Amino acid sequence: MTYNEKDQHYKRFTVTSALPYANGPVHIGHLAGVYVPADVYVRYLRAQGEDVMFIGGSDEHGVPITIKARKEGVTPQDIVDRYHKIIKDSFAELGISFDIYSRTSSPEHHETAAAYFKKLYDEGKFVEKVSMQYYDEEAQQFLADRYITGTCPHCGNEHAYGDQCEACGTSLNATDLINPKSTLSGNPPVMRETKHWYLPLDQDEPWLREWILEQHKGDWKTNVYGQCKSWIDAGLQPRAVTRDLDWGVKVPIEGTDGKVLYVWFDAPIGYISFTKQLKGNDWEKWWKDKDTKLVHFIGKDNIVFHCIIFPAMLKADGSYILPANVPANEFLNLEGDKISTSRNWAVWLHEYLRDFPGKQDVLRYTLCSNAPETKDNDFTWKDFQLKNNSELVAILGNFVNRTLVLTHKFYGGKVPARGPLPEMEQEVVKEMATFPERIGRSIEVYRFREALAEMMNLARLGNKYLTDREPWKLIKTDPELTATVMNLSLQICANLAVLCAPFLPFTADKMHRIMNLPAMGWKDAGRADLLMEGHQIDKPELLFEQIDDATIEAQVNKLLETKRQNELNAWTPNAVKETVAFDDFGKMDIRVGTVLECSKVPKADKLLQFKIEDGMGTRTIVSGIAKFYPEPEKLVGMQVCFIANFAPRKLKGVESQGMILSAEDKDGRLVLVTPSQLVTPGCNVG
Ligand code: MF3
Ligand code: ZN
Repeated sequence: MTYNEKDQHYKRFTVTSALPYANGPVHIGHLAGVYVPADVYVRYLRAQGEDVMFIGGSDEHGVPITIKARKEGVTPQDIVDRYHKIIKDSFAELGISFDIYSRTSSPEHHETAAAYFKKLYDEGKFVEKVSMQYYDEEAQQFLADRYITGTCPHCGNEHAYGDQCEACGTSLNATDLINPKSTLSGNPPVMRETKHWYLPLDQDEPWLREWILEQHKGDWKTNVYGQCKSWIDAGLQPRAVTRDLDWGVKVPIEGTDGKVLYVWFDAPIGYISFTKQLKGNDWEKWWKDKDTKLVHFIGKDNIVFHCIIFPAMLKADGSYILPANVPANEFLNLEGDKISTSRNWAVWLHEYLRDFPGKQDVLRYTLCSNAPETKDNDFTWKDFQLKNNSELVAILGNFVNRTLVLTHKFYGGKVPARGPLPEMEQEVVKEMATFPERIGRSIEVYRFREALAEMMNLARLGNKYLTDREPWKLIKTDPELTATVMNLSLQICANLAVLCAPFLPFTADKMHRIMNLPAMGWKDAGRADLLMEGHQIDKPELLFEQIDDATIEAQVNKLLETKRQNELNAWTPNAVKETVAFDDFGKMDIRVGTVLECSKVPKADKLLQFKIEDGMGTRTIVSGIAKFYPEPEKLVGMQVCFIANFAPRKLKGVESQGMILSAEDKDGRLVLVTPSQLVTPGCNVG
């Protein structure tokens, strides 16, 4: 590990990935931003023979969880139990190789987080402050964070939360909101006095400035560095680390009933408490030895917490190391729209795994090659299909398959002997030797897309080599050179099995199995003698298969249906029209009639033609509701309401003598209005 972080050599690596809130399953945005890159990094380090601790777990406190529980009428514990299981299982199935995946509601975590707070409290590291905060008298509760909404003073969004406006991204204090309202009762809140403990970040400014803005200039990503700089330049404020809530880690001080640690105080301590939970492990070396490299993988909305607040907590304790890097990613969008849990606009990991069994690597590949490393990116199903069909199948799968099939055809699956290497072969050997370092260098500086593209370039090299030599023809004229070509192609396959493993672990396993490869590390790769002459290769199996249009269409349709549902949910009744005099209403002659006949108007998709008994005789009325009544003959005998004094008009050649009333539902469906009991045809409605 020598490509960044000031060339320091580390003895071991503590790698954390942001703890997802257990108030919903994980989606492709979480994966592309955090878990796939973190897993690639960790698998690479292990292949390098490094000592690695990869920490993950569920963030089970915080207001979004209690709000969801209240909405569903269950306990917060029920909510986190449900999602922790889904998240944990789906990560495991995707091959995210955590050393431990735990949860912040565990007793061990509560104990560690409380002890952490207590130590800082005893050493006088907090500032104690009594202040006025919003309180809901009806619910008898203080209104922390998302329990309060109002208008954002910066952008005017009427649904900003007490801690943040999601429309403009500004982090807010509840007292900044205009027209604040309790999300519990909907009432305007009152002010009430309460005591809290604050981390005096204002005092941390000098060392944070030096540490981030000077020491990490150039090695932290520009998006991370930039956000830190603007926070520090704006002047750091003391930050409350306790809340008046009943769900969370209890404040470990006498007489503080009803107070818990702020979720952003307890959650990052989870990284530490989970390390401790791994039995038989000296947890302190992972957190306190300066030869340990600490790296936090997060999404961009977590930057200040991991670069400023958590480091300030670690520094306040004094015995911990600080992160060497915080490679935060931007966001992934879905089909051009922001991913949203509440609007169900997402591809959920557990659903993907159900819909695409055995295709974990296809998702890992697509998300890694499309990771939002420097800017927001878009996931589309079309692109997913393209990456599978024209990259995984056509480049990697095709090269390995051609090589293995020819090896069986020519040599019964045994690696053939290699002769002296002509110039082309020498070039291939030379070039192959550069890949481990090229890929590794990119991974070490957190450029995973680039690293993945390099790995694929090795498969491209293999394909080009086969195309140039055409062993399927060459075998007839030069069997000796053919053996050399096949030997070399097999060496490329063996190298690919090692070098694709951080990205595509399932594919790597399959290649190892088919080629009967021993376990190998990164340092073995690059060599052209990984397979000895006579080594037996098993029957080839396809590494990837085509994904067809119908499969992709089904996923796109699922999203279209979500969009439709969201539009329906967003429906509100039309505004009431301007006031009219009673006499104006009286001018309308609305009556009831009985349907005598009903049929489609020929050559008009939308129109039905009614023959109505109206007490005075019969009349014909044409109505544009054919789409909603596919069997018009069934309407015969039904009573409808119609306007009797409209001037007749011609519709598709039929004279319509009035208008039949129908209600338009929120999805645009038209439903006939009918009296609740049979009445005499021709009677008035009013
Ligand atoms: N739950 C937070 C989120 O999803 C991340 C917490 S990371 C930790 O944004 F550091 F607090 F653990
Ligand atoms: Zn705003």
